[in-house]
Amino acid sequence: MIRSRFALACLFALASCSGIQTPLAPAGEQAASQYSLFVLMLWVCGFVYVLVLGFLALAVSRVMRGAAADPVLDAPDRGLHRSLWVWAGIILIGLSVLAGGSFLVDRSLAAAQAREALEVRVTAHQWWWRIAYRDPATGGWVETANELHLPAGRTARIALGSADVIHSFWVPNVAGKMDVIPGRANAIDVTPHRLGWFRGQCAEFCGTQHAKMAFDVKVDTPAEFAAWLAAQARPAAALADTVAARGMQVVTQGQCAACHVVRGTAAAGRAGPDLTHVGTRRSIAAGLLPMNRGNLQGWIAQPQALKPGTMMPTVTLEPADADAAAHYLETLK
Ligand code: CUA
Repeated sequence: MIRSRFALACLFALASCSGIQTPLAPAGEQAASQYSLFVLMLWVCGFVYVLVLGFLALAVSRVMRGAAADPVLDAPDRGLHRSLWVWAGIILIGLSVLAGGSFLVDRSLAAAQAREALEVRVTAHQWWWRIAYRDPATGGWVETANELHLPAGRTARIALGSADVIHSFWVPNVAGKMDVIPGRANAIDVTPHRLGWFRGQCAEFCGTQHAKMAFDVKVDTPAEFAAWLAAQARPAAALADTVAARGMQVVTQGQCAACHVVRGTAAAGRAGPDLTHVGTRRSIAAGLLPMNRGNLQGWIAQPQALKPGTMMPTVTLEPADADAAAHYLETLK
């Protein structure tokens, strides 16, 4: 029983080393240096912990054996003084190693500032993320939501702002976390080096749907990233068919347009996420559901059931219109 529990614990520890939301599998320069500090702390503190437990066990076993007086340990003053100096030395060396490691990691994080090659603005909302990129081609801003793309090997400066309460930006595989505070300009440098999908999550309690305030993170090659950004900068795709045409009418001329923007159409609301290329995203409602027509339709019909308290109101639509709207959104690639 105990052995199988131990095996299970080891399995969990190993599983956490390869996840898409873990600081134990670094995929970026900042996450890697913080991970090395974690390992250093683990070794230093683990060593002291084992030492303390060892001496505790020794003392207990001596008492239980009713051991006779130890000529060294029980000698007044000299032996006691010597062990006090040894322990003080161990503590001093341990703390110095930790302070040195912490200083080096802090300096390496600060050094990234000199290599910033991409400007990103992330604005936290209850309960989703507005994301904007400075387009190197035009100098203008390209907006999207809930999906952060980053080029591998390049340092991005992510400026963090909040539209309402305190949130926290956290993509553990790529970088540490940074609080997002209303009225305060915070920023974090990230330099991802492993391609793939990761998961970010708000890490500061910010209301009832704090747990459902996630986002997808995709690390691309620089060429893939440039192509993706150029596609995101374009206005909405042309209509695919007549159902999409009906959907466009519903979305861009109905209630949705009050809060959402679909660039290239009449929809120009600013309260909610930009939907111009919503069909390219991996998930909807800030990481809540995978992107597909059925989930889009469910989200439009029952936002308060899926995410109670969300600012997205329930919009009553005829079933055919709801399906057309979902189909239109899915085609916005
Ligand atoms: Cu936003 Cu928790």
